[in-house]
Amino acid sequence: METHKHILAACAGLLLAAAALPAAAALRTLGAVEQVTTSRDSVTLSTAGGAKLRIGFVTPDVVRVRMNPRGDFDRDFSYAIEGAVPRADAVIADTDDQLELRSANGSRVAIRKRPEPAITVYDAAGRVVVADDPARPTAFDPVDGAIQTFKRREDYELYYGFGEKALPISRQQQYMAMWNTDTPDYAPGTDPLYQTIPFFIALDDGRSYGVFFDNTRRSWFDMGKTDPHRYGFGADGGELDYYVFTGGAERTPANVLRDYTALTGRGALPPLWALGYQQSRWSYMSQQRVMEIAHSFREKRIPADVIYLDIDHMDGFRVFTWNPKTFPQPRRMLGDLHAQGFHAVTIVDPGIKYDEGYPIYRDGRERSVYVRNADGSELHAKVWPGVCAFPDFTLPAAREWFGELYAAALDDGVDGFWNDMNEPATFTPDGFDKPETNHGPQKTFPLDAQHAGDGVAGPHARYHNVYGMQMARATFEGLRKLRPGQRPLVLTRAGYAGVQRYSAVWTGDNSANWPHLALTIPMLTNLSVSGVPFVGADVGGFMGDPSAELYTRWLQAAALTPFFRTHSTDTSAPREPWVFGAEYERINRAAIELRYRLLPYLYSLFAESEKSGLPPMRPLWFVYPGDAGASLVEDQYLVGGDLLVAPVVREGMVKRTVYFPKGDAWIDWWDATRHEGGTRVQIDAPLGRLPLFVRAGASIPTQPVVQHTGEMKSAPLTITVAAGADGSSRFFQDAGDGYGYRKGQSRTIVVTQDETGVRLDIPRNRGWQRIEAVEFVGIGAAPALVRIDGKPARDVRFDAQTRRLRVALPNEGVKRIELLR
Ligand code: GLC
Repeated sequence: METHKHILAACAGLLLAAAALPAAAALRTLGAVEQVTTSRDSVTLSTAGGAKLRIGFVTPDVVRVRMNPRGDFDRDFSYAIEGAVPRADAVIADTDDQLELRSANGSRVAIRKRPEPAITVYDAAGRVVVADDPARPTAFDPVDGAIQTFKRREDYELYYGFGEKALPISRQQQYMAMWNTDTPDYAPGTDPLYQTIPFFIALDDGRSYGVFFDNTRRSWFDMGKTDPHRYGFGADGGELDYYVFTGGAERTPANVLRDYTALTGRGALPPLWALGYQQSRWSYMSQQRVMEIAHSFREKRIPADVIYLDIDHMDGFRVFTWNPKTFPQPRRMLGDLHAQGFHAVTIVDPGIKYDEGYPIYRDGRERSVYVRNADGSELHAKVWPGVCAFPDFTLPAAREWFGELYAAALDDGVDGFWNDMNEPATFTPDGFDKPETNHGPQKTFPLDAQHAGDGVAGPHARYHNVYGMQMARATFEGLRKLRPGQRPLVLTRAGYAGVQRYSAVWTGDNSANWPHLALTIPMLTNLSVSGVPFVGADVGGFMGDPSAELYTRWLQAAALTPFFRTHSTDTSAPREPWVFGAEYERINRAAIELRYRLLPYLYSLFAESEKSGLPPMRPLWFVYPGDAGASLVEDQYLVGGDLLVAPVVREGMVKRTVYFPKGDAWIDWWDATRHEGGTRVQIDAPLGRLPLFVRAGASIPTQPVVQHTGEMKSAPLTITVAAGADGSSRFFQDAGDGYGYRKGQSRTIVVTQDETGVRLDIPRNRGWQRIEAVEFVGIGAAPALVRIDGKPARDVRFDAQTRRLRVALPNEGVKRIELLR
């Protein structure tokens, strides 16, 4: 028996070694299921090859599969998931050659026992969701521990998500690696980049499902590249631990993302100021320069909320210090900034200068919080400050220690923090004599460096991909403790699945060229559907200098993206919105003003996102999965469900084709032209115009232009109603910071539109922005009469040019506005 088993496994292994591309060494399959143990929610299987499998329901719509080739499971612990993974009861049937688990809502998992375990997940309607490919059974490498699995692929199935990838919007026929890497000046196609989010949403024939492969080692996805009839994923080691999200009865992408974020967490509502416009460069070199920039914004009446201080604010790049020559009075500077309505964010890198005279370094060494080499010595590598030591963010005591270091900066008046270089990135060591490549091993710690792993010590190869996320966690948790009444703003470059619990993410060192501008939309929408709502790209492109036209188009395109920041490298020309001349300055101001006018809407979307996991920035396919015309659109995006943005992302273009997704009509924000869903229309897009459309039936809160979010309190709101369809919208208001909203200190306004007008449900105002008017857009002609709660309205204005009808509200008690033809 024993020999027989080995021969079988060896044969299968040989076969696979010849056919499977990603892993080089000889792979072995698991062998037939020999033993079955069942519990209330799962089955545990032992195979002839000595592997263990456990398959069960997390919720009635979510299946978890674990496979460990070494015969026992690892500790059930995940950096992606907060707390224990839930379990849902299943009805289990075990027959001679098959096992079946059925969840409370009828989703099913069938497991064939021989000759190899083969798992098929069905939805409640009996349709296959995910099926193992019998031609490529799940396998492992007995020598190096690599694991892999392949699933059957439908010909037209598309795949979105995978975190941060510089690839077209859908990732079918792509091979992708997951290994957090510092990739300055990356190009379309460079892979991997800074983030690892091994999660995707599939779409086929209007139906979705999702897969999350929770493995922190170097991993890969082959989405039909080596064979269009199958896709697969695997990793250099660890367990094959993955989740299948069936998408519930509706099989919608929104359901998949809701269930994925229920597991990995949802981005918390940011402070309102963090949604304003942010200005950065590497670096504003002195306190005086920072103040000049701030003054210029106010003097030129270009709204802005945040100024960034990159690495040069420090003393010799020692984190948590100030350069005494160039920033002699940081408190005064920060006080002045606050007085002008600015917030300040400083950069904090993980490398701590190896310098006996630097108290933070010494303190960390005394507390043993640094990463160690395989031989136990302190790991040293070069980054900006020269040789550094690095906190082991997988050690709880290190996270706590690092989190507390923010106290001094907060006391000085710094408002938010930017964690960079946390892939972790290192510079080439002295005497390095190889060509330096983006993905060379010299770019990070040695793979055998030692980490604490929150109780399961392990090598860097295992914890590399969570290093950045755990740094952001240390920052976030530190700030929550130090300033419990404030919502932290943390920005991180590297991350792993679940990073959204701690931080916003930006797409690293992009470049000042048109292809990079175009890339921002597929990159940011895919990050968004990977569970990360607060995302942005450096406006203008980090590396190099954009032309005036490119910068202006970029600012416009980014104006409604969640995280909105101009940033550029040290050798770049100045890049503030006014540096390209008066005409561009005017247009740039208007782009930023548009963001501020729509901020109440954006803010509401973030509040919704915290509850539902739905991101503020959405690709068209996500909202319109049934519309095949929407599935590959990658030069447009939706803000929430109601705004459609179609930026110009090509040089010299002044008209562009816009696709209007099926099932809704869309009203041009600027001239109120109505476009039917399912059409493709040429739209004028002169340099000064961002093509923007609002969904008929939707209502959107807008405000007058303010110079920063601190002015919003006294800025009255207008509810902009896109006429022409029935619909109901809600929006959220609260104090803009702090956690009162979690204790009921907020209000949700509901606006319902029907053919005769709108109904308003405005709860009592406890000091929030007052609602002063309702503005109808897209109504064609002025109505004969407007009635408010049955009486003729007094203050009604119709603008024939913009085709907007503005009805002033006498007070917030108004219940109904009727338009009579
Ligand atoms: C890295 C960051 C960039 C930053 C620079 C200096 O390149 O990605 O944003 O400006 O380091 O800190």
